[in-house]
Amino acid sequence: MKVLFVKDYAEMSEKGYELIKEIIETKEEPVISMTTGGTPRGIFKLLVEDIHNGLDISHTTIMNLDEYIGPRDAAYTVRTFMYQNLYDLINVQPHNIFLIDGATEDIENEINRYKEILQLYARDIQILGLGTNGHIGANEPGTPFDSTMFLAEHTEATIQSTMKEYNIERNDTPTQMLTLGFTEILEAKKVVLLVSGKHKAKAVRDFLEGDITPACPASVLRNCENTIVIIDEEAASLLDKAKYL
Ligand code: PGA
Repeated sequence: MKVLFVKDYAEMSEKGYELIKEIIETKEEPVISMTTGGTPRGIFKLLVEDIHNGLDISHTTIMNLDEYIGPRDAAYTVRTFMYQNLYDLINVQPHNIFLIDGATEDIENEINRYKEILQLYARDIQILGLGTNGHIGANEPGTPFDSTMFLAEHTEATIQSTMKEYNIERNDTPTQMLTLGFTEILEAKKVVLLVSGKHKAKAVRDFLEGDITPACPASVLRNCENTIVIIDEEAASLLDKAKYL
């Protein structure tokens, strides 16, 4: 795992976006798997800007890491986020758009359908955010490191983050998600974890300086050569800096 320290959210977004752009520009059939939420908003802005300036995404496949269980068009769904932050803002669409269906009545069938897509479209890059409790995707603390795509129950910390991010009441907030497991996350050719802000500082310290244990899901990345972590100053503020000099 490689760790890259950057100044702030803007620089984190630029560095993360550079990695995505390079893949779009150099691969014949690029496959990008995104995350949603507060962390990647800056990356989506940069991507939309570049598409307006002529970046060609007509050969690119874009998919996602997870999806909330709930109505497809609810304000909080990954689907809604992807349309609001990308697909509705551009004239040329990607070659393929794949989304997990969180409104399905048949969870098992949906997992199998998406797993087949993952087999057919090897991901060049998987973008991740870090939960305040150390989760990646919806692999919450305690999830075994050999997890494969599954229906996850959110912890209270994650429910609180979702309420804040989407400005919704407790009763309207989803409590479950279909998520790639650690196994599929790590199968991507490149895994990029982005972290910004003071509220992530404790999670960053546990992740980088604590034990490698399912109690801190992101710690699974520490032994992975294909992983890049991009951390801004606020998120890195509790780290023992001497270790990284
Ligand atoms: P955030 O969430 O990007 O909204 O901070 C990250 C996560 O919980 O994965």
